[in-house]
Amino acid sequence: MEVVSKKYHIEKNTVQETLIIPLYGRKVCSEHFPELFKDEEAERICNMLDYDFAVKGKRMESGVGLFGALEVAQRQYDLAWEVRDYLKNHPDASVVNLGCGLDDTFHKCDNGSCIGYNIDMPDVIAVRNELLPAAARESNIGYDLNDYSWMDMIDASKGTVFFASGVFYYFRKEDVRKLLGKLAKRFPGGVIVFDSCNSRGAKMMTKTWLKEAGISDVSAFFSLEDKSEIESWCTDFEAVTARSYMRGYRDIYKDVGLLHKMMISFCDRYVNMQIIRVAFKEES
Ligand SMILES: C[S@@+](CC[C@H](N)C(=O)[O-])C[C@H]1O[C@@H](n2cnc3c(N)ncnc32)[C@H](O)[C@@H]1O
Repeated sequence: MEVVSKKYHIEKNTVQETLIIPLYGRKVCSEHFPELFKDEEAERICNMLDYDFAVKGKRMESGVGLFGALEVAQRQYDLAWEVRDYLKNHPDASVVNLGCGLDDTFHKCDNGSCIGYNIDMPDVIAVRNELLPAAARESNIGYDLNDYSWMDMIDASKGTVFFASGVFYYFRKEDVRKLLGKLAKRFPGGVIVFDSCNSRGAKMMTKTWLKEAGISDVSAFFSLEDKSEIESWCTDFEAVTARSYMRGYRDIYKDVGLLHKMMISFCDRYVNMQIIRVAFKEES
């Protein structure tokens, strides 16, 4: 008798559907560059979704498509690096994945004593609870991030590190500003790390990643020309720093072919793809 395993649905043409892009990218990257990124979880989860990966699969197998896969895997590496770095001095801290989709960074960084929170829209969290159920010291929380009541659920007593991977592009800049200001006030001594690009990059993202993936009703809004834009946003920020997204944490330039080398340089020079880290002032 054939065993048909249950498949889980992600609503099409919504911001929630964008979680498919990095998830599938990590799976493809893991298959093509296993020496750089190995992610068996991404493969397992893709197989459990009732999503037609055929078109996306073809596009991601091209040279340019594979670069997209490298980007999302590198982004997860960078942000996990930042989380581990914060945990060195705050081993019992809360690790908060904002717009978590089906990303399992908390499991990758879990030191055995930190606390994990994964926050996304309620329908995403319903699927996550089936495919990536919360483990020990971990909670999955279904909330719109712009409704700040989710902050009441975070234990801030031992430090807090927030990260948002591929999420703020779908926010208006004003909403990112308000969210960061609120976090700085509520979580003194905490940090937030997230990826950003300039307006040219945001336009390219809407045209390529989103439209080509058939997600036509979603646009990328947020972009940053330079990290200095953020510095004046809130007096509770201690420091704002930025590193290259593709080369700032682990430089894979030497490990990839010519096309991908050129694309890495393009991302650095013309799109300003960065990982931004905002540290919040300690309580005075
Ligand atoms: C491109 S996906 C990234 C998913 C995940 N961070 C990753 O890297 O695999 C963007 C995610 O942000 C979530 N998201 C966007 N806006 C949100 C909001 N206002 N509140 C909660 N989640 C949001 C989407 O539902 C989606 O899961």
